[in-house]
Amino acid sequence: MGLTSSLKKLNLNLSDLEAILADHSITTVTDNEGIIVYANKKFCEISKYSEEELLGQNHRLLKSGEHSDQFYNKLWTTISGGRNWDGEIKNRAKDGSFYWVKTTIIPVMDSQKNIKYYVAIRTDITREKQMQEKLLHAEKQLDQQNLSLAAKVAMKSSDIVKNERLATIGTMASRIAHDLKNPLTILHTYADMLTPEILSKLDSKDKEKWFRLQNSIFDMHRIIDDVLDFARTSEINKKKVSFLSILRLSMNHVRSSYGIIIKLPENDVTLNCDRRKIEGVMSNLINNAVHALDGQGEIDISLSLDSEFVTIKVKDSGPGIPDENMEKIFEPMFTTKNTGTGLGLVICKSIVEQHGGNISVSNNPTTFTIKLPL
Ligand SMILES: Nc1ncnc2c1ncn2[C@@H]1O[C@H](COP(=O)(O)OP(=O)(O)OP(=O)(O)O)[C@@H](O)[C@H]1O
Ligand SMILES: [Mg+2]
Repeated sequence: MGLTSSLKKLNLNLSDLEAILADHSITTVTDNEGIIVYANKKFCEISKYSEEELLGQNHRLLKSGEHSDQFYNKLWTTISGGRNWDGEIKNRAKDGSFYWVKTTIIPVMDSQKNIKYYVAIRTDITREKQMQEKLLHAEKQLDQQNLSLAAKVAMKSSDIVKNERLATIGTMASRIAHDLKNPLTILHTYADMLTPEILSKLDSKDKEKWFRLQNSIFDMHRIIDDVLDFARTSEINKKKVSFLSILRLSMNHVRSSYGIIIKLPENDVTLNCDRRKIEGVMSNLINNAVHALDGQGEIDISLSLDSEFVTIKVKDSGPGIPDENMEKIFEPMFTTKNTGTGLGLVICKSIVEQHGGNISVSNNPTTFTIKLPL
């Protein structure tokens, strides 16, 4: 049965229907080609077009670009096939703003079953859609937060496992190092005492052997000190002290050679720090640089400060650190040297962090940067 005859039967005409629907729905009627032949007040309000502007226009006028051609094709196939279509559509109003409508399109046939009109009844769901988008956004953010929290937890747990392992290694190593330290000190002392007498008796070849022996004792001392430093969890003991004075003392533990120029900073700063520990940090960084230079090159130590931090840079003209090792050099036991413990930088990092600072590294030129709070 056609729309008009249905209405007639109910004793209603289109304007009666409009009055009923006007307050509740956003309604249009189009002809069978989609040309708007009727638009109610609510439709004009939401689309911001006047009735005159709408009549005679194709419904495409309101296309927002949100939906694909496929979407419209499906809609059109459904209604032109005589079936109702239900769905949500995003439209564009005259002023360019967008609105969402929950839509039912009903084809209305004449007595020959030819489609005469399409009646579309809509409800404004823009607010719901906005809420939905906000919810989706919040959900996405939550998902991201969850992921980053999970990553943090995984990292922390692996840190805990690592720290536990390190603590065990540390206890064992420090016991051994401690037991070795006394006999080594005796060896060191006697070797030093005997040096003048022995040197006067040895030819140049044997003299070299003697120096190598002494160097080895020096190396062992350094390694033992590193292990003990690593194992020590003692609190830091902060005092105000000149950085240059610490640097000069640390140079006593540096084994440089003639081909290497070490430039110290020309300025100085008073640091509030554990003198002995920072001395250890500097000597390890400088010894690393000396080792990297392999007898030839320059090490440049510089100092700069702002209102909060002092920045210490140890730069060397050596070959740098291969990219694949960049992440590993601060891990315990990572070394590329035959006699290294691979603890040097781990100890440096933990000491610097104990002072509330941080240490980082970059290549070209190889530069270790320490930032300490003033
Ligand atoms: N200035 C540098 N240039 C190139 N590589 C470096 C430099 N400093 C450190 N490295 C690399 O980082 C590794 C780890 O250094 P770290 O000080 O922790 O241990 P190590 O020097 O190998 O051993 P140890 O400190 O016990 O002598 C070194 O083996 C080396 O490969
Ligand atoms: Mg080192």
